[in-house]
Amino acid sequence: MITKAKHHEISKKWRGKIYEHWKRTEPRLRLFNTVVGLLKDKDILEIGSNAGIYGYEISKHSKSYVGIEESRHYYKQALRTKRFIDGDSEFINIKAIKFLKTNSRTFNAFVSFFVLYHLNNKEIDLLRKNIWSKCDVIINMVRIQNKPLKKNGYYLCKYNNIIKMLNAIGFVSEVYKNNNLYLVVSKNETSW
Ligand SMILES: C[S@@+](CC[C@H](N)C(=O)[O-])C[C@H]1O[C@@H](n2cnc3c(N)ncnc32)[C@H](O)[C@@H]1O
Repeated sequence: MITKAKHHEISKKWRGKIYEHWKRTEPRLRLFNTVVGLLKDKDILEIGSNAGIYGYEISKHSKSYVGIEESRHYYKQALRTKRFIDGDSEFINIKAIKFLKTNSRTFNAFVSFFVLYHLNNKEIDLLRKNIWSKCDVIINMVRIQNKPLKKNGYYLCKYNNIIKMLNAIGFVSEVYKNNNLYLVVSKNETSW
C-alpha cells in the first residue's frame, strides 16, 4: 500500500481543496488493500475517481484502469497523480451518465468508493445493464452516515442494499468491515 511519504509526495502536487487527504484516505486504502489482489490483470472502471489515489493503487495490479470524475478540479489533481502511475491508466473528466451512454469499452471489474449514492437512477440502471453485467468482480465501499444521501431510489449508502442489487444479477457478495467503513466485494458466480 502507498506510504504516507509517497502520498505526501503526490498530494503536494495537487492544487486547491483536497478530498483525498491522508487522514481520510489511509483507513479506506488499508481496508481496500486486503482485497486489491482480486483486481490483478483486470480491466477496471472506477466511477468518482477524485484525485486518483485509488487509481494509483489499482494500477499496480490491473491490466488497465479508467477513472471517471465529473469535477474538473479533482480531475486536474488526478492528472498530476497520473505522473506517478506506471501502468495503463486513464482519467476522464466526464459525468458518469455521459460516459455510460457513450462508452464502448468492456471492463471486467468495477470499483467505487463512497460514490454509488451520488449517482442518479439512470446512472445506476446504465451501470447495471452495461458495466456490471460484464464484470467478474465489483468492489464498493460505503460508510455509515447519519444522514444518508439519496440521489437514487436504491439507498446505496447502505451496504446491504448494494448486496441486494448485485446478488439479484448473479453476484455473490462478502462484506469486510473496519470501524465505520464497509467494503462490499461481489463476485460473479459464473466467472469464479
Ligand atoms: C465522496 S467523493 C469520493 C471520492 C473517492 N472515490 C474517495 O473515496 O476518495 C465522490 C466523488 O465522486 C464524484 N462524482 C459524484 N457524482 C459523480 C458523477 N455523476 N459522475 C462522475 N463523478 C461523480 C465527485 O466529484 C467526487 O470526486
